[in-house]
Amino acid sequence: MKLENGIVKETFLDGSIRVECPRELIPAPGQYLLAHTNASDEPLADPVFFSRSAPNGFLTAPPAPNAWMPGTTLNLRGPLGHGFTIPVAARKIALIAFDDSPARLHGLIFLALKQNAEVVLLCDSQVNDLPEVVEVQPVKAMQDVLLWADYAAVDVSRGEVNQLREKVLEQRQVRARCEAQVLICTQMPCGALAECGICAVTIGRHWKMACKDGPVFDLNELL
Ligand code: FES
Repeated sequence: MKLENGIVKETFLDGSIRVECPRELIPAPGQYLLAHTNASDEPLADPVFFSRSAPNGFLTAPPAPNAWMPGTTLNLRGPLGHGFTIPVAARKIALIAFDDSPARLHGLIFLALKQNAEVVLLCDSQVNDLPEVVEVQPVKAMQDVLLWADYAAVDVSRGEVNQLREKVLEQRQVRARCEAQVLICTQMPCGALAECGICAVTIGRHWKMACKDGPVFDLNELL
């Protein structure tokens, strides 16, 4: 983990930004950085997730704080947490944006295609700039796609975890058939530094800290 500066180079209408930073700071898909500006009145740092590669840095998943403009210097700490790990043998990969944009999953597309996997992206929002080989389906196709896939990466907000759990449990074969990981998106203000507990999530019968035990968890732990 490193603590260094990055700089906002570009902002986009969808709320994402392009950050330039040292290479060792760039988080893997599912990991995050904590970022704040020197000038900020906000006491808490904001989590920043990788979305796509960019020259000398990366594009973040939206939204970024409105105050971050081109030229803003960011104090960055990370990479933090556990990210996604695509099994090397996976050849049918599902990326599921359960209740939000697929931006935090986007970085997996390149990794999946690199190992010659077929990729299906499930999301209910508009997505641009996808490789032609990526098939897009609505989230309601999730149960069928989970039966097809040999690996799935899911992005879900903390408030929707129970709904995700119910959907998966409805389809009994899914548990045995498919290896899956879930990114639980929640507030992570201290990144385990102060042990604030704000990021606590129930995993099985235990409380876990999304900031350090996750934010990516095995789906089977959630069921
Ligand atoms: S964000 Fe503070 S303990 Fe996780």
